[in-house]
Amino acid sequence: APDQTILGIETSCDETAAALVRRHGDGSGEILANIVLSQIKDHAPYGGVVPEIAARAHARHLDRLIAEALTSANLRLADIDGIAATAGPGLIGGLLVGLTTAKALALATGKPLAAINHLEAHALTPRLLGPVEFPYLLLLISGGHTQIQIVEGVGRYRRIGTTIDDALGEAFDKTAKLLGLPYPGGPKVEELARQGNPKRFDFPRPLKGREGCNFSFSGLKTAVREAVDDLRPLGEKDIADICASFEAAVAETMRDRLGRALKFFKDTFPEVRQPVLVVAGGVAANRTLKAAFEEVCRRGGFSLLVPPPHLCTDNAAMVAWAGAERLAIGLADPLDAPAKARWPL
Ligand code: KG4
Ligand code: ZN
Repeated sequence: APDQTILGIETSCDETAAALVRRHGDGSGEILANIVLSQIKDHAPYGGVVPEIAARAHARHLDRLIAEALTSANLRLADIDGIAATAGPGLIGGLLVGLTTAKALALATGKPLAAINHLEAHALTPRLLGPVEFPYLLLLISGGHTQIQIVEGVGRYRRIGTTIDDALGEAFDKTAKLLGLPYPGGPKVEELARQGNPKRFDFPRPLKGREGCNFSFSGLKTAVREAVDDLRPLGEKDIADICASFEAAVAETMRDRLGRALKFFKDTFPEVRQPVLVVAGGVAANRTLKAAFEEVCRRGGFSLLVPPPHLCTDNAAMVAWAGAERLAIGLADPLDAPAKARWPL
C-alpha cells in the first residue's frame, strides 16, 4: 500500500489542535506536525470548561493552526490524502467547528473524510508509535472518560469497564476545587500529594472487591468534602495530606479494578503470549498511579505502554492516525456525517 498523509483536527473539548501524520505502507506511523493550542487560560477563571467560550476559541484559531501544521511539515493541501476530524463525543459547538472545517477541506480537495470517535483516537495512539498487535487492553483515564476497553481491531472495541458516575480526571479536578486549588487540578493534586501523608485520611476505595471492572468516584469526592468541612480553615499540611490520601485511595481502587481487567483479558485471549496494557488520557501523566499500573502489570504478566504525555492528552495526531487506520481499510465517511455530543465506542 502507498504512504498516506492525513490531516487531523481535534476540537472536542478545550484543546484546538491540528496535525499531519503519515501512515507508511508497512503500517508504521510518523508525525509530521502536531500543533496544540490549549484554552486552559480562557476557562480557568470559571473553574472548568465553558462550552460557548470553547467553541468560539476553536472557530477563531483552527484555520491558522491547520495552516501552521502544513507550513511546518512543508506540505500543501494538495499533498494530503485524507482529512480526519473528531466528530464526538464532546462539546457540540466545538465538534461542529472542527468537523465542518474538515468537510469543507474534503469537499475542496476531493479527498476522503474520516469522522473520528475521540475515544477511538485515544485507543489507537500506541500503534502510531510502534507495532502493537491486536488485541490489547486499554485504560482510558481523562477529564471526561474512565473506561477499560479491549481493542480487538480498528473499529472493534469491547468495553469491559466504565465509570458509573464521575470520570477520574473529574474526581481530581473536583478534589482540587474543594481544596481551593486552580483548574485543572490533577497536576496540582499530584504535586502537593508528594509532601502529604497518604495514611492520614481513610478515604473509601469505591467498588473495591466487587465483580466486574466498573469505576465509581463520587463517594470519594463526598468523603473529601466531609474532611474539608471538618477541618476548616485548612492549613497547608491538611491540604497536602488530603491530596496524598486521595491519591492513595484512587491508586488502590485502580489496582483492584485493573487487576480484574487483566484477568478477564487473559481468560478471554489465552493465546496472546505477551499481553499489553495501554494507558491513555490526561490522568496517565500521574506518577503515583503509573507506579500502581506498573505493579499490576508486573503481577499479571502484562507489558505496560503509556504514550508520552503530549500524546496521552488531547491532540490531533491521534485523530489523524485513527483516520489513517480507518481510511486504510476503506472506512471513509460521507460529507453529511453528524457531530455527536454522545457517542460510546
Ligand atoms: O485527556 P485530557 O487532557 O483531556 C480530556 O479530559 O479529554 O485530561 C485532562 C484531565 C484533567 O481532569 C486533569 O486534571 C487530569 O487529566 N490530569 C491529571 C494529571 N495531569 C492531568 N490528573 C492527575 N494527575 C496528573 N498529573
Ligand atoms: Zn481525550
